[in-house]
Amino acid sequence: METVVSGIRSTGKLHLGNYYGAIKNFIRMQDEFNCYFFIADLHSLTTHPTPENLHDTVRQVVVEYLAAGIDPEKATIYVQSHVTEVIELYLYLNMNAYLGELERATSFKDKVRANPDNVNAGLLTYPVLMAADILLHRATKVPVGKDQEQHLEMTRTFGNRFNRMYKHDYFPEAFAFSYSDKLIKIPGLDGKGKMGKSEGDANCVYLSDSPEAIRKKVMKAKTDSGPTIENQQKPQEIQNLFDLMKVVSTPDTVAHFDELYNKCEIRYGDFKKQLAEDMVSATEPIRSRIEAISADDAYVSRVVAMGAEKARESARKTIKDVREIIGFRSF
Ligand code: TRP
Repeated sequence: METVVSGIRSTGKLHLGNYYGAIKNFIRMQDEFNCYFFIADLHSLTTHPTPENLHDTVRQVVVEYLAAGIDPEKATIYVQSHVTEVIELYLYLNMNAYLGELERATSFKDKVRANPDNVNAGLLTYPVLMAADILLHRATKVPVGKDQEQHLEMTRTFGNRFNRMYKHDYFPEAFAFSYSDKLIKIPGLDGKGKMGKSEGDANCVYLSDSPEAIRKKVMKAKTDSGPTIENQQKPQEIQNLFDLMKVVSTPDTVAHFDELYNKCEIRYGDFKKQLAEDMVSATEPIRSRIEAISADDAYVSRVVAMGAEKARESARKTIKDVREIIGFRSF
């Protein structure tokens, strides 16, 4: 069975975009592949989180992934820093990662531009740690978006370089994986692009949002003054709300409001009320599971310990082989 690895940014709460994008895919993959999903807390150190903040956000991400449907009996869900073997592999890979190629990485250049006062070595070698995450389990599939393509290419470069250097065909090549070519786009509520945390809290519907919070956000979403010509094209902010409705409502509901729009009879108040209620229904089961799981410290600890144990089993084997290949042998 093929092995899948994916790192989850430990930035706290999940929104509908995360859910209908990455998480739905994870839920499907856990039935078909040998999956390792981990919270990338080592990576997050590049931005120097406080100790309290680090722990809380990592715990919240674990809780929300479990609530959303990642099954710890099927997939291995773990916290990256619990599997310290990755740090050792990262060191080995660093010896064959060159300054020039690391400096050329788009994500590095973006971060340097955004935070010129925090250009640390961890940031520079971020792609090496990511390669270590993937190579640690000798994965072949990585469910990530376009923005991570360059990192995957670097992962293949580092793995191949190791193989060549030690004349061992040890690390397989990993490629981006997704079930379909067209990712479903989850727009935000700001009338512009996709739902994303960096666009602000008002733009995102979080899985942990209360029904009242969801209603408030949706009712505040931007609309125009309404259609004036039959069958006219929808402006982006209206199209976005219809796209969101397609995700959470029944096709009949979407068709109903589409028809009203086309006849210039739509009332945005009613439309948004329906959208909000359907969002509440879609997220309610997850929200109540988030609360239940979050309150159950024993369960969360058990899941995390089990994940670390399973991940370490695979990691230990790789490290043992790699040490042998490199030439660290017992005396
Ligand atoms: N760089 C990824 C991101 O920003 C997170 C990540 C870290 C990752 N390690 C990984 C993704 C390993 C896939 C595999 O989203």
